[in-house]
Amino acid sequence: MDRIQHDGVLIVGAGLAGLSAALAAAPRKALVLTGAPVNHGCSSAWAQGGMAAALGEDDDPALHAADTVAAGAGLVDPAMARLLAEEGAAAVRKLAELGAPFDRKADGAFATSLEAAHSRSRVARVKGDQAGRAIMEAVVKTALSSRHVTIRSGMRLRALLQDAEGRVRGALVEEAGRLVEILAPATVLATGGVGGLYAVTTTPPELLGEGLGLAALAGATIADPEFVQFHPTAIDIGRDPAPLATEALRGEGARLIDGNGEAFMARYHPDAELAPRDVVARAIHAEREAGRGAFLDARAAVGDHFPDAFPAVFAACLSGGIDPRVQPIPVAPACHYHMGGIVTDAEGRTGLAGLFAAGECASTGVHGANRLASNSLLEAAVFGRRAGAAAREAQTSSGRLLKAAPAPVLPSDALAPLRQAMSLEAGVVREATGLVRLVEQIDALTARYGRAPALIAARLVAACALERRESRGAHFRTDHPAPAEEAARTFVSPKDAAACQAA
Ligand code: SIN
Repeated sequence: MDRIQHDGVLIVGAGLAGLSAALAAAPRKALVLTGAPVNHGCSSAWAQGGMAAALGEDDDPALHAADTVAAGAGLVDPAMARLLAEEGAAAVRKLAELGAPFDRKADGAFATSLEAAHSRSRVARVKGDQAGRAIMEAVVKTALSSRHVTIRSGMRLRALLQDAEGRVRGALVEEAGRLVEILAPATVLATGGVGGLYAVTTTPPELLGEGLGLAALAGATIADPEFVQFHPTAIDIGRDPAPLATEALRGEGARLIDGNGEAFMARYHPDAELAPRDVVARAIHAEREAGRGAFLDARAAVGDHFPDAFPAVFAACLSGGIDPRVQPIPVAPACHYHMGGIVTDAEGRTGLAGLFAAGECASTGVHGANRLASNSLLEAAVFGRRAGAAAREAQTSSGRLLKAAPAPVLPSDALAPLRQAMSLEAGVVREATGLVRLVEQIDALTARYGRAPALIAARLVAACALERRESRGAHFRTDHPAPAEEAARTFVSPKDAAACQAA
């Protein structure tokens, strides 16, 4: 087996969190590993909405933090939300300096849009739905031209390397069928979410929660894994992954209608189309289950402006034979974001020495039970930078390195039924019988294929969803439809990991 000694920060994942960490690691060297080619296989480049920040004169970080806390349904850490909001405007400005072409007003100020559950118009966008792509282009270009950053694609994470004291000393990765040990003083996981575990997802399908699973296996504490956000309006044209129809369309006035053309959101929430994301997702789920269908009607609100105003949504619709200028768009909820993750502090430190985490695979405590729209790119930029800056201080350690074996990989013919089961039993609406069935199915797969990181991640979601006997934020149980009196986060620590992970 080859071994590389990297004297700097090792980062697994090349989305916005990973590259923000890499840029912040200077002057230490940053080695970034990604499975897919750069700008593929990461959700950041697919984000349509934009980046939320208190940029307007009528806004204040305290208001942004309050909206973040309210959206999270009792489970947000207010100090972390405050920190995120306070660093928001600087993060947007920094990305603009790197070349992200945010929309501007005539006077040069950032043009902002309103999104659901925000009390102010504060989402910085790029040409309607191009924010993620444009931000990532600027950040990738900067990283590629930074002397301290090296990006290697085609590298799949297979295990974390640890020494006898439990310190994480690097990663075991697979490159073109060969295993390579990469040793480094600090390892940052920025491996994204769990969308690929679901049959209907808006994220790259290779995101299987493997970083989360491997961190849990190594002994890191995992928080709130049951909280999975479903985007209400994935475009239902039979594509996998499902293209997104951004919330900004509803911000612009697009309506949700059933197959008979009746608007239905006012029946579910006083804020109708601008209700919190989980409420809209459940309403659409209910309309579809009732056989009435659900469509996003942007004919009046956007109409002929569609190709210029929302080019990505327009192209996706056309690819499915829908012209959204003249036809309502068929929509369905889809797995979009994982609020749960590896527990970190404000500097991305996990409970394991030498291991940091940032972005969607991490749990900083800012999202609670339901992430506020357009807070994900912001979190990736803010906490990715903080993790990279902290990781650069790590010193080489000399403890005895333990031998690491590559974790099993779940074969694709076993992944397909798992994805169906996750969408059915741990989706928008859940209940005990289905979750028990799901846990049993995951255990049977684990008995057959071993403790594949994807199965560990799936079991964390399913077992903790079963355990949470209440409805809160994105977690809705038909058998426990009300929230519990006391809001409490889930923490799966190494000592109870066996209960949550083992077959
Ligand atoms: C969207 O554009 O609707 C998604 C934004 C987000 O996930 O925050």
